[in-house]
Amino acid sequence: MPGFVFWIHPVLQLVATAMAAYALYLAWPRVLRNHFGKRTSFAWAEHGKWGKYAHILWMLGLVGGTALVARHWGGSGATGDHYWIAQMIMPCIAGGYITGTIMDRDKKPRKYMPLVHGVLNVLALTIAGFQIFTGMSVVREFLLH
Ligand code: HEM
Ligand code: HEM
Repeated sequence: MPGFVFWIHPVLQLVATAMAAYALYLAWPRVLRNHFGKRTSFAWAEHGKWGKYAHILWMLGLVGGTALVARHWGGSGATGDHYWIAQMIMPCIAGGYITGTIMDRDKKPRKYMPLVHGVLNVLALTIAGFQIFTGMSVVREFLLH
């Protein structure tokens, strides 16, 4: 397999994480409105679009990275921390995506779902931030060694 294939996952996950950070930046006015009583405007469709891109790329990257490690490094899980932290991001991505889609399809005032959605996604973004650090060790040990 050509060497560049092993770089697709790290680049994809970095791009996806940047998109998620942008989605959070777009959601910030909504947080101020929902929880701090500020009158702000929220780029609803734009937020949903970048949020979806981020979630889809994260999941594709996760599955692709797992498949490559399973094939080339004797079974998935070989990366240790990077693997285990990835398992924690999965439920956050799934929950964030489902709650986001429900609120996007049926627009109405809600009390708890935006909060659950926001917390799950901020958690996912935090975990992705950790993955950049654990991922750099994986790049050093698996790709540059
Ligand atoms: C949301 C962020 C990320 C998730 C969920 C994620 C998830 C995963 C998973 C599940 C694997 C397979 C591990 C195994 O079976 O032991 C993997 C492999 C790998 N990850 Fe990540 N990762 C993320 C970000 C990153 C970043 C930012 C980097 C680099 C800085 C990186 C570098 C790697 C490398 C080099 C591999 C080996 C396979 C390959 O080269 O495609 N990952 N990742
Ligand atoms: C990583 C990606 C995402 C992040 C970081 C994120 C973050 C947030 C945050 C922090 C809020 C404000 C919650 C609150 O005020 O309590 C919010 C609201 C919202 N998000 Fe997302 N989100 C993401 C993905 C998505 C996706 C994929 C969708 C679905 C299309 C979506 C749809 C919505 C909607 C409709 C609201 C407004 C809910 C309301 O106030 O009624 N989000 N998001």
